[in-house]
Amino acid sequence: MTKQNFPLGCSVVCISIILIQFIASMNFSTSQSFKNETSSISTTTTTTKAFFIFGDSTVDSGNNNYLNTIPENKADYKPYGQNGFFQEPTGRFSDGRVIVDFIAEYAKLPLLPPFLQPNADYSNGANFASGGAGVLAETHQGLVIDLQTQLSHFEEVTKLLSENLGEKKAKELISEAIYFISIGSNDYMGGYLGNPKMQESYNPEQYVGMVIGNLTHAVQSLYEKGARRFGFLSLSPLGCLPALRALNQEANKGGCFEAASALALAHNNALSNVLPSLEHVLEGFKYSNSNFYDWLRDRIDNPANYGFKDGVNACCGSGPYGGVFSCGGTKKVIEYFSLCDNVGEYVWWDSFHPTEKIHEQLSKALWNGPPSSVGPYNLENFFNKEIKLTIADVVDAPQIQNGEFHY
Ligand SMILES: *[C@@H]1O[C@H](CO)[C@@H](O)[C@H](O)[C@H]1NC(C)=O
Ligand SMILES: *[C@@H]1O[C@H](CO)[C@@H](O)[C@H](O)[C@H]1NC(C)=O
Repeated sequence: MTKQNFPLGCSVVCISIILIQFIASMNFSTSQSFKNETSSISTTTTTTKAFFIFGDSTVDSGNNNYLNTIPENKADYKPYGQNGFFQEPTGRFSDGRVIVDFIAEYAKLPLLPPFLQPNADYSNGANFASGGAGVLAETHQGLVIDLQTQLSHFEEVTKLLSENLGEKKAKELISEAIYFISIGSNDYMGGYLGNPKMQESYNPEQYVGMVIGNLTHAVQSLYEKGARRFGFLSLSPLGCLPALRALNQEANKGGCFEAASALALAHNNALSNVLPSLEHVLEGFKYSNSNFYDWLRDRIDNPANYGFKDGVNACCGSGPYGGVFSCGGTKKVIEYFSLCDNVGEYVWWDSFHPTEKIHEQLSKALWNGPPSSVGPYNLENFFNKEIKLTIADVVDAPQIQNGEFHY
């Protein structure tokens, strides 16, 4: 893959993008300044195992509860979390737990606290994810914590770790930790398909190149801070989300919205091309990628094979396929919503998000599933240290062409 060339009109477009970004980032950083200074690292723990999570609503454990954002980007109201695992809605976009909660359990770690939770204990890692977030700063700008900001939050945690554990122990923890990244869907849905201006400026191929370019930079910057083992959740067949299926009613009589799925596939292909290149260039970089696309499509098309009855409709929502995003009745669209009786029969919890049962099955696949779902390493390999880092892996790799990574 070669670096994308931007259209000639880019100078104007790019400069205005940079200006918009700058203005929005100023507003945004003031809205973030409530971060409680007393957050700490407990020094009593002896474990060096840690888990850091970056991404969107697939893995947000409650960061958006602390944001001043729209109800669509929140899940801190009923019936979210209704299955009783948690006492009350936590901000997870599910009827209960999400992927990283199961992974933490399998790794014998406590649940990872949202970074923004006051007085959170970061000694086993932290969750930086934000529902609605994208790789690009433009995606739902001002309403979410974009990936770049999530990285700066990680940097804050590394400083706290150094203060509390001492530099040597903190470095050890950071290089031994597992970094899980689940992001991109919002860049293609709201950020591109829902944004005519973006579609005028970039064709799909250019846009995917830009998302992957920024994602690659994020991975590189974590690597430069000492991160070595990365898990990636690839994108699902986006066009089969009830919300997108509903948009496509006339065109294809209830089929999936294939243009959205095609973007997800292009993203996944680009990501699986980039990761081996990174492994080649970054000494000690190890990754676990996944094939969420086929994995979920199989459950959508053949729910009965996996213990479900319905792979098409949302348990909670309204309109065709439950695709109108009204779950909870707090959103702008509509106050009325319906809720299914037996959530265990459903692949989809609401118009955009799968049920806890899907999250659990997926976690098992990421933990130790077959090579068709996860590879070249699985998360069990990482957490159980079947993959040992050598001294050479941990020392910084040589600078790559002035910090630009070409793929
Ligand atoms: C930070 O946490 C402490 C202890 O819980 C609390 O007293 C204080 O009000 C909090 N500060 C902010 C800005 O939330
Ligand atoms: C990252 O995204 C911005 C838009 O947010 C874009 O201008 C830039 O070219 C992208 N960088 C890469 C390396 O793709």
